Amino acid sequence: MGLLREGINEVIGTTTVNAAPMGVILRNGRYTLVAFLGSHTVENIEKQGYMVANIVHDPVIYVMTAFEDLPEEAFVSETVDGLTVHRLDCAEAWVAMRTVIERETAEALIVGLEPVHEEIVRHVVHPVNRGFNSIIEATVHATRYVRTGDPALRDLIGHHLALAKKCGGKREYEAIKILSNYIEIYSASD
Ligand SMILES: Cc1cc2nc3c(=O)[nH]c(=O)nc-3n(C[C@H](O)[C@H](O)[C@H](O)COP(=O)(O)O)c2cc1C
Repeated sequence: MGLLREGINEVIGTTTVNAAPMGVILRNGRYTLVAFLGSHTVENIEKQGYMVANIVHDPVIYVMTAFEDLPEEAFVSETVDGLTVHRLDCAEAWVAMRTVIERETAEALIVGLEPVHEEIVRHVVHPVNRGFNSIIEATVHATRYVRTGDPALRDLIGHHLALAKKCGGKREYEAIKILSNYIEIYSASD
């Protein structure tokens, strides 16, 4: 098992028919996840005991899965290590992991992850693109902004969306449109 790298891997975490961006941490050979309470991912990890880390480079998928659900057709079911798991059809690669809840804080579950199977589906390379990276940054800030309404986060989102506009391509432009709509919807319901 070696697809994920040291540090925090910003993957799309899938559980049964649910997808959300999640940061899988790899430090000193140990995989962990800090999963904030209240999400479907937490609920599913508690019930199902697995998560798949999907490696994806489509900015639209990050924005969509951060804020809403994907249709069932977006998932493929796989059987690994006697376990039926769901991964994304569009994954370039995926790592199925068993989950062990190590502890719970007031805000989050601290989850240990044990990779049981990994697969590369598509051999693709990704030249570094600041537009894509900025969509990831903007989406992280946006998931916090919709919870807190902090105006400093709104400014950071604006900064990253401007960079995504300058450096991105068609998929980044589509992601900007979708993310801007979510932020507007949130502001309108203030
Ligand atoms: C790049 C990125 C990384 C994220 N990492 C985490 C994480 O490690 N833990 C977490 O609880 N939420 C994380 N989030 C926020 C969740 O994706 C967000 O709360 C999502 O709405 C949860 O969806 P769900 O209810 O379908 O699980 C991250 C968001 C982004 C954009």
